[in-house]
Amino acid sequence: MSEKNASSSPALRLDVEIVSLFPEIFDSFLCTSLLGKAVESGIVRVTRTSPRDFAQGRHRKVDDASYGGGPGMVLRPEPLAAAIEAVEVARGRAYRVLLSPSGRLFDQALAVDFARRGRLMLICGRYEGVDERIADLFADEVVSIGDYVLAGGEMAAAIVIEAMARLVPGVLGCEASTVDESFSTGRLEYPQWTRPPSFRGRDVPEILLSGNHAQVARYRRLESLRKTEARRPDLYLRYPLTEEEKSLLDGGHAKRKTKPRSKSSPG
Ligand code: 6GU
Repeated sequence: MSEKNASSSPALRLDVEIVSLFPEIFDSFLCTSLLGKAVESGIVRVTRTSPRDFAQGRHRKVDDASYGGGPGMVLRPEPLAAAIEAVEVARGRAYRVLLSPSGRLFDQALAVDFARRGRLMLICGRYEGVDERIADLFADEVVSIGDYVLAGGEMAAAIVIEAMARLVPGVLGCEASTVDESFSTGRLEYPQWTRPPSFRGRDVPEILLSGNHAQVARYRRLESLRKTEARRPDLYLRYPLTEEEKSLLDGGHAKRKTKPRSKSSPG
């Protein structure tokens, strides 16, 4: 029996709906590099919808002054609601994420969670804010990408898309890449070097040229720990040292079977 949908492109693995007043911001982002390939091959689909197309009146006004006063304009709820509803009528319910600096902080765990959901709507705010009823009535989650303020949610949406897309099988081209790296273990990634072995007076650490895989692995785990402690003390403390890490920091004495070689020892 042949499958009706059998085709040369793989099944849709990530389906993203962007709701944004500036859908063109994403043009080059969605066409470039690994994400561009994933979109082209159909593993990832990104559909963009502008609330402007759902705004009423001759001027299609999407924003208005803030009740209670104060500077800046606020996005009105009706065009956003109409856009969200039209997207779901056309292509089905999505997990709805409102991007806002007052949201929950985005991190790797949330990227994994979103990627698993398979179908996501990223709702981008602009100007000084979005009418609170959009968060109340429509958002399954409100997400911020960090403690700074952007002019709009578009760059945040791009970041969320990239973080999710690279977790989808077939997007990276090298699945092991997502296992070892920063944050999946609460440690920053170990430093890396490539050719040339010497550059402007800086040499690649010799151990990496040694071909001793066990020593290389050990060196990397230790550097990863040291880097985390120096640059991200918050991460370092959040994830307690494992027994293996304690032993590494200890110079490996607990685990080492043979005596370490010493320059001063005779023989
Ligand atoms: Cl999601 N939106 C805006 N406007 N600013 C932000 C943000 C989002 N995350 C951090 N800053």
